[in-house]
Amino acid sequence: MNIGFFDSGLGGLLILKAVAKALPQYDYVYYGDTANVPYGDKTEEEIYALTKAALTQLFERDCALVIVACNTASAETLRKIQDTFLQAEYPDRKVLGVIIPTIEEVIKPHYKKALLLATKRTVESNKYQKELDKLGDVTQLISIATPELVPFIELGEKEIATASAISTIERAGVGEGDVVVLGCTHYCLLKDSLREHFGSAVTIVSQDEVIPQKLAAYLEQHPEITSRLSNTGKRVIHLTQHRPDYDRLTAEFLGGAYLSDED
Ligand code: DGL
Repeated sequence: MNIGFFDSGLGGLLILKAVAKALPQYDYVYYGDTANVPYGDKTEEEIYALTKAALTQLFERDCALVIVACNTASAETLRKIQDTFLQAEYPDRKVLGVIIPTIEEVIKPHYKKALLLATKRTVESNKYQKELDKLGDVTQLISIATPELVPFIELGEKEIATASAISTIERAGVGEGDVVVLGCTHYCLLKDSLREHFGSAVTIVSQDEVIPQKLAAYLEQHPEITSRLSNTGKRVIHLTQHRPDYDRLTAEFLGGAYLSDED
């Protein structure tokens, strides 16, 4: 069986690329809902319905485990998906999100202040703060919606996106000993330029560096899932809508790696 990846668009490819590099032996199926991107300004109900549809597709494509790489979908739907949809329809499958693994990076070591950059829906869900509270962490979290970044990144305007992110981070008063959480799939692409700008005084948490180790640890702890995974190194990308410029974006997000198109 396969490991599935779900994102609202192409950004999750950055996470898949990092995971497939760390765990190359497994078979991966990626589902990018490019017909409906962005999720960041949709309602909770819309996001739930789209997430359910995506997961159904991935389970029908023989995924034993699905990573919801999309922060917006993780924030709005994960708990409900796990408690209702999964239990009723696919009780033998697993769905994991990206928010709790990311939070675990924020609370260790203890930072003075944390700034979350994310979509409007992720910020409005307050999910990051709720998870920090559950862990009893006292890190001060500032959450800022940066909906302008995804369109710039998708247009290939990385420099404009970086400049915009830098100005937001500076306006939030982030300084030495603080941590910036890139809480959106696409933002992984900005991590190097942000690190170059802020130096080592500010920690930048990027999910493509968090999820591979967390998934490896999860698979080690869950032999009942790992034993069902096939090991042929297959990679399949399924997009709900294709546009010519997605070829360029896909190549950029995957670093030029070749992946076969399923259909
Ligand atoms: N994939 C989304 C996320 O990680 C960003 C793009 C969108 O708004 O759909 O939150």
